[in-house]
Amino acid sequence: MHIQLVLALLSIATFGVASAQEGQPCLSSCGNVTITFPFGSGEGCYHSPDFLVTCNQSSGEPVPYFGESTIVISNMSTSKSEVEVLAVVARDCYNSSGRVRRNGSSLGLRDFRISAKNKFVAIGCDTQAYFSGRRGINRSFYGTGCISRCGRDSLITNGSCSGVGCCDVAVPQEMRSFEIELSSYNNHVNITEFNPCSYGFFVEEGKFNFSTTNFRDFESIQKMPMLLDWAIGNSTCDIATEDMDSFLCKGNSECDPDYSGPGYRCRCHEGYEGNPYVANNCTNINECERGTHDCEHECVDTQGSYECYCPKGYSGDGHKQGTGCIEDQSYPIKIVVVDIFS
Ligand SMILES: *[C@@H]1O[C@H](CO)[C@@H](O)[C@H](O)[C@H]1NC(C)=O
Ligand SMILES: *[C@@H]1O[C@H](CO)[C@@H](O)[C@H](O)[C@H]1NC(C)=O
Ligand SMILES: *[C@@H]1O[C@H](CO)[C@@H](O)[C@H](O)[C@H]1NC(C)=O
Ligand SMILES: *[C@@H]1O[C@H](CO)[C@@H](O)[C@H](O)[C@H]1NC(C)=O
Ligand SMILES: *[C@@H]1O[C@H](CO)[C@@H](O)[C@H](O)[C@H]1NC(C)=O
Ligand SMILES: *[C@@H]1O[C@H](CO)[C@@H](O)[C@H](O)[C@H]1NC(C)=O
Ligand SMILES: *[C@@H]1O[C@H](CO)[C@@H](O)[C@H](O)[C@H]1NC(C)=O
Ligand SMILES: *[C@@H]1O[C@H](CO)[C@@H](O)[C@H](O)[C@H]1NC(C)=O
Ligand SMILES: *[C@@H]1O[C@H](CO)[C@@H](O)[C@H](O)[C@H]1NC(C)=O
Ligand SMILES: *[C@@H]1O[C@H](CO)[C@@H](O)[C@H](O)[C@H]1NC(C)=O
Ligand SMILES: *[C@@H]1O[C@H](CO)[C@@H](O)[C@H](O)[C@H]1NC(C)=O
Repeated sequence: MHIQLVLALLSIATFGVASAQEGQPCLSSCGNVTITFPFGSGEGCYHSPDFLVTCNQSSGEPVPYFGESTIVISNMSTSKSEVEVLAVVARDCYNSSGRVRRNGSSLGLRDFRISAKNKFVAIGCDTQAYFSGRRGINRSFYGTGCISRCGRDSLITNGSCSGVGCCDVAVPQEMRSFEIELSSYNNHVNITEFNPCSYGFFVEEGKFNFSTTNFRDFESIQKMPMLLDWAIGNSTCDIATEDMDSFLCKGNSECDPDYSGPGYRCRCHEGYEGNPYVANNCTNINECERGTHDCEHECVDTQGSYECYCPKGYSGDGHKQGTGCIEDQSYPIKIVVVDIFS
């Protein structure tokens, strides 16, 4: 039987929103995850119900869930407008009598997108890994995947996911849902001993390196970290700035012109850092203290930037990438020749 884990977020907005208890402050963290606005743990804490975080304390260790879903949040970033979640690994396992179990994996998002910084990875030596999904506002259909076939004597290279024991596929922009399906050509015949299962999953770039040990250790790995993209609302910068009351980028924060929508993103002005979605939270970076300046001699911090100064007797712009500090041309020493014979 093909059991899918449907982790649907499609109906979050229609659910009642868990209220923060009267007078209780918003949670600043849940387990290892720092909760930053526009995310929030209860009514009055988040920007919109899309950003609801449900902190479930019932198992002892608090676990942050995405809205009312069963998706676990593992990290979030307001500077990149991303959230990292744990996505289920699909698997398809065999013994010498045939298939033992098969689990697919799927995910549906309402307003968030699956980041193109993820890739789709499949592990196995008799593995056909397919995923289909929906993209864009119109949720248009597409499907792709990869194939990996090998034997015990195949030269499987650690660290390289290049079609032998491991294959991967890039993830397109604007992907809003996926469904992974795994199958085999020969029921892993003759290879069950070293590779009983095929695995398929989405994973954030840099968070997975293939190794031959994965044929075994993925038995106990249920989830992998995956990045989701988010933005505020449906309006682009131009339209969003017209309603200053609801517009979030305030105080050394600006609407990100490099992001073309849907919705808008905030970013701190250059030389500032903080949460650009919280008014006045972007504060000046002291480049001089931090050592991120390029002054040759003296560095003086300014709001949003810094200035370089040269020591006395030197001139130039003081920047290592500029003219630097050049010693002033000293006055030529007059050599007075005294005519001792006169
Ligand atoms: C939290 O971090 C600790 C230390 O890095 C780790 O052992 C633990 O598994 C993490 N907890 C969760 C829920 O990720
Ligand atoms: C919290 O998690 C437990 C299982 O760990 C589950 O039984 C319970 O329904 C969850 N509570 C909420 C409010 O989601
Ligand atoms: C969490 O996200 C922040 C911001 O992007 C990043 O600096 C940090 O390394 C991430 N932590 C983990 C454990 O990936
Ligand atoms: C294969 O797995 C099935 C189901 O778990 C089991 O009934 C059968 O005995 C197994 N066959 C072998 C040869 O291990
Ligand atoms: C995986 O599929 C097997 C049957 O093939 C089922 O018994 C098991 O509960 C599924 N696991 C999950 C996590 O859905
Ligand atoms: C989405 O669908 C609408 C109505 O069918 C159409 O006008 C629009 O061009 C489509 N957008 C894209 C990006 O395909
Ligand atoms: C790959 O690395 C693992 C340990 O990370 C090691 O056990 C294994 O033998 C290596 N395989 C090859 C083919 O080098
Ligand atoms: C499995 O091994 C047997 C014996 O070496 C061979 O005859 C057969 O063709 C192999 N089957 C596959 C699917 O590789
Ligand atoms: C993968 O390998 C690269 C280069 O060896 C290393 O920098 C990185 O930390 C590794 N990542 C993981 C998740 O092991
Ligand atoms: C964006 O627009 C879509 C379709 O018009 C709507 O279903 C959705 O709720 C809107 N999202 C937000 C955050 O306003
Ligand atoms: C920015 O927000 C963080 C987290 O809410 C808070 O700890 C910090 O003090 C704020 N900084 C400023 C300058 O408001």
